[in-house]
Amino acid sequence: MRIGAFGRSDAEIDLLVRGMRSGIAVVGFGYIGTVIGAVLADRGWPVTGIDVRQSVVDEINLGKSTVAEPGLSELVANNVRVGRLRATTDFSAIADNDFVIVNVGTPLGPDYEPIVDDIKAAARALGEHLQPGHIVILKSTVPPDTTENLVLPILEETSGLRAGVDFGLAFCPERLAEGQAIQELLSIPVVVGAVDERSARACATLWRHALGVESVIVENPRTAEMVKLADNLWVDLNVALANELAKVCDRLGMDALQVIEAANTMPKGGHPVNILRPSMGVGGYCLTKDPWFVNHLGESLGLDLAIPRTSRNVNDTMPAYTYGLLKQLLADQGKAIETSRIAVLGIAFKNNTGDCRLTPTKYVVALLEESGCELSIHDPWVGVEDAVTVTNVPLTADIETAAEGADALVVLAGHRQFHQTPLSRLAELVSAGCVFLDGRNSFDPAAVRAAGFVYKGIGR
Ligand SMILES: NC(=O)c1ccc[n+]([C@@H]2O[C@H](COP(=O)([O-])OP(=O)(O)OC[C@H]3O[C@@H](n4cnc5c(N)ncnc54)[C@H](O)[C@@H]3O)[C@@H](O)[C@H]2O)c1
Repeated sequence: MRIGAFGRSDAEIDLLVRGMRSGIAVVGFGYIGTVIGAVLADRGWPVTGIDVRQSVVDEINLGKSTVAEPGLSELVANNVRVGRLRATTDFSAIADNDFVIVNVGTPLGPDYEPIVDDIKAAARALGEHLQPGHIVILKSTVPPDTTENLVLPILEETSGLRAGVDFGLAFCPERLAEGQAIQELLSIPVVVGAVDERSARACATLWRHALGVESVIVENPRTAEMVKLADNLWVDLNVALANELAKVCDRLGMDALQVIEAANTMPKGGHPVNILRPSMGVGGYCLTKDPWFVNHLGESLGLDLAIPRTSRNVNDTMPAYTYGLLKQLLADQGKAIETSRIAVLGIAFKNNTGDCRLTPTKYVVALLEESGCELSIHDPWVGVEDAVTVTNVPLTADIETAAEGADALVVLAGHRQFHQTPLSRLAELVSAGCVFLDGRNSFDPAAVRAAGFVYKGIGR
């Protein structure tokens, strides 16, 4: 039964949260919602996932999840079994919970604008069941002012309650990275921007006890909304910088990773320089859209911002660049791509995940399919349903069959499983003069060469 967190003193909230007497509802049980919900349940909290997709709800209640994130299936299975995690499509379930965390999607529209329709729908459904004492925390990535100018009025109108008076409201961006989501959720500080001080303090108490992490409290929700966009703009731009350095190093016959590693020893502004790593492309649900959110924001303010467009455009050149490298490598071996046998290893957008949303690998695979080469594709993380969003070629179940007779092994996702097959074994299976293009720079060049391959990485 819900006790009601908002409006209580700090000491009471502390006791409530420390004693795990609060239930937590997680609205939007997709990638991020499932990670947050399963981790909170695993740390002892009663968690209810609420999603509009009946299939997701049914799966969770069977103790299953299709979200391919290391360690997540076990957390979901265990916590559903012991009764700490359940899911429903019914928003009235929030009645039993003190905290409501909202993680619905915010995709990119046709004009590169943020689509906040799911946020509106979730806020409406939530408002209909909101009661005094609830604390609502929005985590979806949104443009500044969404919490206060869109979510708050919908919640107040549908519930007849007042934010900051009857219920708490805050924006706390989710900053974890897929592939290491569980560990990052339990270690990265949470930024809290709330409509009032009591909401902010209640969130900080929750995160301290629920996840064991500290909070960075900023002035208001709009500042916290901007923090998330700043973080992702930095990442996308930084990868673009690494990618252009890699292109230059490729022409100069230099190892970009050595350049970057050494460059990163210079202190600047109190921290070392931190140039990220080049790769065959940037994909996924966040970095492909959040810089455009910033660009759209700039346009709405009458500003012509160059950085978001530049980072997106540079990173979008990488799949075609990678394909060009492969063609050249094969040509150097006296082979034409159209008559070659190519084995692609990994199609997820990121190492050690099965997420194929907006994966840059799709563009390399499309160019390979068009070339007429004989193509085999292997990805141990990706299921059939996701694979068809990337390629028409059916996945090959194991790496050895995929590599058989290959003129080129092309690593597009550096999954840890690929490192478990000895390179010497792969070398036995492939054809003579096989090239090894590591699009994720995840292999040691010397080891690949020592096994007998013609090695090339991105920028090395
Ligand atoms: N994926 C990431 O790595 C990541 C990281 C940080 C932040 N984010 C942000 O988190 C948000 C969610 O991302 P995601 O990857 O989990 O998206 P997702 O598409 O995997 O999940 C969204 C879920 O919300 C559900 N949903 C849609 N409308 C709903 C409604 N009205 N009521 C209840 N549920 C509803 C969908 O059915 C889906 O299951 C986005 O804003 C994203 O930008 C994502």
